[in-house]
Amino acid sequence: MAYAIAIDGPAGAGKSTIAKSIAKKLQYIYVDTGAMYRAIAIYFIKNNIDPTDENAINKACEHVDITIAYLNGEQQVILNGENITSILRNEEVGKIASKTSIYAKVRKKLVELQRELARTTDCIMDGRDIGTTVLPNANVKIYLTASVEARASRRYKELIEKGESPSYEVIKSDIENRDYQDMNRENSPLKQADDAVLIDSSNIDLDETIETIIKVINENI
Ligand code: DC
Repeated sequence: MAYAIAIDGPAGAGKSTIAKSIAKKLQYIYVDTGAMYRAIAIYFIKNNIDPTDENAINKACEHVDITIAYLNGEQQVILNGENITSILRNEEVGKIASKTSIYAKVRKKLVELQRELARTTDCIMDGRDIGTTVLPNANVKIYLTASVEARASRRYKELIEKGESPSYEVIKSDIENRDYQDMNRENSPLKQADDAVLIDSSNIDLDETIETIIKVINENI
């Protein structure tokens, strides 16, 4: 394995923004594993596969090919030959991804791809199970979290800035549901690895969070 930094944590903790920025500073590749679970969810949605039907999901997995490429340093996700990166980040896809990521077959397929990416290239990888399952020997492990309220208000502000009119209560309850689903599944639930450094960003801003993580990385290089 090349040098690996694992960042895990719940939805909305800022993992991808932070991991991207650190990857740029350190000139590592950034591997967004949530994007892979979202990509496979898009296949299930497009093919009308019931997210609660494990047999159907298992069968469908055999027809899914996901690969990762980098364009100007940005991760691109290719699903059966089509670059679907631009449609990954929507609320509905995230919800279905959380539901279909509970299945062993889905996880096995994507974990193999994640390990292969980390085998040859220095990377910073974020997700839910990187430090516990995907890269248990990662050189640095961070568990990045924030209170439900802090995560919900950040998301609320982001949507307001985009000109949308979101409901804070709906955002908060979506985050709570996603936390519950990701933390309570049988296969690789989200939890802090024993050797991960816990960072709670509820009361610190983005720059401070990045600084704190870089300090942890430097101490462990
Ligand atoms: O980080 P995200 O919101 O893009 O992830 C979408 C869903 O994918 C998340 O709710 C659970 C699943 N996921 C996972 O099970 N394991 C990972 N390593 C990354 C994401």
